Amino acid sequence: MRHAVAAIVDGADVEGAIEGAGLAPSDDVRATLRKIAEMNRLMAQDHELPALLRALDGRFIPPVAGGDLMRSPEILPTGRNVHGFDPYRIPSAFAVSDGARQADRILARHMADGHAFPETVAVVLWGTDNLKSEGGPIGQALALLGAKPRFDAYGRLCGAALIPLAELGRARVDIVVTLSGIFRDLLPLQTRLIAEACFLAATADEPIESNFVRKHALAYQAKSGCAIDTAALRVFSNAEGAYGANVGMLIDSGAWSDDDEISNTYSKRKSFAYSRKGEATQQLDLLGAVLETVDFAYQNLDGVELGVTSIDHYFDSLGGMGRAAKRARGGREAPVYISDQTRGEGRVRSLSEQVALETRTRILNPKWYEGMLKYGYEGVRQIEAHVTNTMGWSATTGQVEPWIYEQITRTFVADPEMRERLAALNPAASAKMANRVMEAHARGYWKPDAELLAAMTQAGDELEDRLEGVTTEIAA
Ligand code: BEZ
Ligand code: MG
Repeated sequence: MRHAVAAIVDGADVEGAIEGAGLAPSDDVRATLRKIAEMNRLMAQDHELPALLRALDGRFIPPVAGGDLMRSPEILPTGRNVHGFDPYRIPSAFAVSDGARQADRILARHMADGHAFPETVAVVLWGTDNLKSEGGPIGQALALLGAKPRFDAYGRLCGAALIPLAELGRARVDIVVTLSGIFRDLLPLQTRLIAEACFLAATADEPIESNFVRKHALAYQAKSGCAIDTAALRVFSNAEGAYGANVGMLIDSGAWSDDDEISNTYSKRKSFAYSRKGEATQQLDLLGAVLETVDFAYQNLDGVELGVTSIDHYFDSLGGMGRAAKRARGGREAPVYISDQTRGEGRVRSLSEQVALETRTRILNPKWYEGMLKYGYEGVRQIEAHVTNTMGWSATTGQVEPWIYEQITRTFVADPEMRERLAALNPAASAKMANRVMEAHARGYWKPDAELLAAMTQAGDELEDRLEGVTTEIAA
């Protein structure tokens, strides 16, 4: 099939592609390849710029529901007027059933790594990936709790319900959910849904060995004297109107000296708990208490366009959560996983595996970086961003392998020819990259040998000089 698809992209027709690839020509194969040929046709045409120009002229742009290209190819052609989603139908029936499968998968991976069944799982929820998957990650969070959405007679979302323990067949896992500001803004019904599910679990008449939400909520209530409504709050986000954990900015500035600065920054921003009525109150102490019980943290990756080292938001939210959990756990690192939902049935990787995979396939892959360099100034900035984001993962999780920095340094900083290419295209980003690998070394994330250290230091000096307008010729 792969060969047939490649042939279609190269211009073959369906029959030619079937024959060339040696496929048995069934109706199914023909139908699939016809669809792929049509997708290819739509993707090969530029509908976006013409649509933008039409829009600027105040003309009509045909509408289409928003979605993800892989999951919903009917969104093609792009460049149409994307309209929203029906908030009363998220999570979809598929998101609920698949959420249960993905939750089992992540629990199984954690236990396969040698850990006991978890009492608490920290999960980061974003708006975009829930929209693209009709609430897949929401389905996972509910499944961990042993809960599901309730729909009224019109099929509209109206609340949460618990799945009986006998049917669930395992303990209810406590969750601490952190929502991006975008999720909170776009999905208020779902924010309340998850909060209600947590409240129902905390107040269920069930033994605490089978219900870790109740176990932890009762313990917090006894310690703090608060009402159960407060002790059951598990949905955290920013204050209304605020976005992000500011961890990305902290790492980018390089102006931080210990882990506590990161966890404090994170907790200050993300300690606003949203109730089942949708109201937010700051609950720093409660967040700390729940994080103390966290066994691992994870987030889904929803598309192939971006990885966890492409943008700073992943380490800002998931990495920040990891640091805050480590602090609450008395300095013990919490394992961090990525639930890769970009293809097939889904796959769980440790953060360390995910960063290594992205490093091999993107920043160290000549196809990727040469592609970036075709974009000149912006391409170099993208490469630098990957380096900074990689360091963001070291700073927040300590789970980046040292070879990654060594290979990046050898490829982009120590190699004179490559360094010259980068510096000619974007002197500021290349100097920043050299400084970043040196910073990573200074922070103990890797250790170059004497030769590489000397080459890297000299390269850093040269790039700084260049940035300041001092070239070797002028200096000589
Ligand atoms: C979100 O969809 O929630 C999101 C997207 C990009 C960065 C951060 C959050
Ligand atoms: Mg940013």
